Amino acid sequence: GQGTDAGGREELVDGVGGVCFVPSVMERWRELQEFQARPDDTLIATFPKAGEWSSMLNSALIMSLCTFWTGTSWAIEMVDVVRRGGDISGCLQIPSMMRAPFLELNPPPPFPSGIDILQNQPSPRLIKTHLPFHLLPPSFVDQNCKMVYVARNAKDTAVSYFHFHRMNKKLPEPGDWNQFFDSFLTGQVAWGSWFDHVTGWWKEKNNHRILYLFFEDIKEMRLHCLSLCCLFLSRLFSILITEPFDRIIEHTSFKNMKQNPMTNFSLLPANIFDQSVSPFMRKGEVGDWKNMFTVAQNERFEKEYRQLMSDRGPSFRMEL
Ligand code: A3P
Repeated sequence: GQGTDAGGREELVDGVGGVCFVPSVMERWRELQEFQARPDDTLIATFPKAGEWSSMLNSALIMSLCTFWTGTSWAIEMVDVVRRGGDISGCLQIPSMMRAPFLELNPPPPFPSGIDILQNQPSPRLIKTHLPFHLLPPSFVDQNCKMVYVARNAKDTAVSYFHFHRMNKKLPEPGDWNQFFDSFLTGQVAWGSWFDHVTGWWKEKNNHRILYLFFEDIKEMRLHCLSLCCLFLSRLFSILITEPFDRIIEHTSFKNMKQNPMTNFSLLPANIFDQSVSPFMRKGEVGDWKNMFTVAQNERFEKEYRQLMSDRGPSFRMEL
């Protein structure tokens, strides 16, 4: 089937280069590969469920507009911030999926695809992708774009992705936890193998302008990671202004993002995201896998993990 019939879940297909996808992504694959990145684009890449940190980066970007830019954007932002009594979060009136469009997302009409949204968006754009590095449209590398990769430990990712499959009515049927556990370990899930994903980006991180962050670090040391983002995005000056920093930290807390309609995806109807099954902002914790993994599953996971992760790959914390 085409998999994009209104309402239905998509099937999993063998996509490209051994990576599984949903059919809607494959439908515009050529166009996707020909996507024209611009030099001032910032790409945010993650394996699914590494966390909606795009909002944090977006805040950093907006702050920089306030401090560095001249011209209309600057004036609009400044006036708007002043008008809202200095409240940066008040400026974020646009859903995160519009602020950082999802590059390869290709939903059925009337919803626009990621490519369609991005082509009409003024610079500087913030772009979200779940693509493995080797399947990125080549223009991102050609244009030397900055890319922020966020990696999350495999066990929490697996659990989070399982619950996401239950509530996201566009993703393939996950089966029960046991079945999904198998699919995840063998890379038979949309966007493929977690192992290939995190190591693929890791290998490239020094060859391109890539900031490689860990979910666990962001959770534990948000100010530190936010500073790294500002440095990486050349927003050094913002670091000197500590008050907006506190506001960004607050704005991007789990509690706030869970409540914020611009970040909690409550704008999507229940036939796409059924949040009564599992909320999009579910728990946001490190180590939640312990509530899901059986002892046997954990042993099998550990064994395969050692085989699939090379010694020189990224090293993850499964708990804090
Ligand atoms: P859980 O399912 O473990 O709660 P993505 O945005 O890539 O789909 O990832 C979603 C996961 O990131 C969810 O994990 C979600 O709760 C978590 N997350 C999103 N924003 C967060 C935040 N501000 N703090 C902690 N976790 C967050």
